[in-house]
Amino acid sequence: MHIRRAVESDFVAMWNIFHAVVATGDTYVFSPSTGREDAHVYWLSDDITTFVAEIKGNIVGFYKLIPNQRDLGSHVANASFMVSPTAHGKGVGKAMGEHCLVEAKKAGFEALQFNFVVSTNKTAVALWKKLGFAIVGTIPKAFKHQQLGNVDVYVMHRFLDDVAIPASS
Ligand SMILES: CC(C)(COP(=O)(O)OP(=O)(O)OC[C@H]1O[C@@H](n2cnc3c(N)ncnc32)[C@H](O)[C@@H]1OP(=O)(O)O)[C@@H](O)C(=O)NCCC(=O)NCCS
Repeated sequence: MHIRRAVESDFVAMWNIFHAVVATGDTYVFSPSTGREDAHVYWLSDDITTFVAEIKGNIVGFYKLIPNQRDLGSHVANASFMVSPTAHGKGVGKAMGEHCLVEAKKAGFEALQFNFVVSTNKTAVALWKKLGFAIVGTIPKAFKHQQLGNVDVYVMHRFLDDVAIPASS
């Protein structure tokens, strides 16, 4: 697997994955009918740092890294992840999560915070815990899960003090 900075020509593959991920309405707030332009603004605006994961030249996932807040809250990062449903469970999310921690540290962030982890998204919650995140807050019934109705959302957080930047990075 190779993880690199996203470029504009990646968007065709990213859009297909985005569309498949939001179609199920169980992990992200995006409506299944979100359009290409909205998705493009979210993932590839100029002020956003986005990475794609490739296996044998095919994009299988991507993530973006941004400041969680402006100005006095900008020392904390925020990130969003999507893996192609056809590539789930192969370590892509874990590899991107580990990569993101290093990139966040390299960029000078002091912590990484996920603002909207759907509590029923067992894979994501387990993965983020494995990568050192703690649930620091629960927002009751904040997500309209398309099968389960309104479910809780977690805020997950991790300081980056212990993240080592590999020499090769
Ligand atoms: C959540 C997501 C990013 C995880 O990526 P992934 O590539 O599927 O996950 P990985 O293969 O890296 O697996 C990560 C861990 O989760 C575990 N896992 C995988 N599928 C699982 C499942 N269905 N249930 C429970 N655990 C699971 C794996 O065992 C693995 O742990 P391990 O390495 O110790 O074995 C991906 O599934 C995804 O894009 N989901 C839809 C969008 C989303 O939820 N984004 C995150 C929002 S917070």
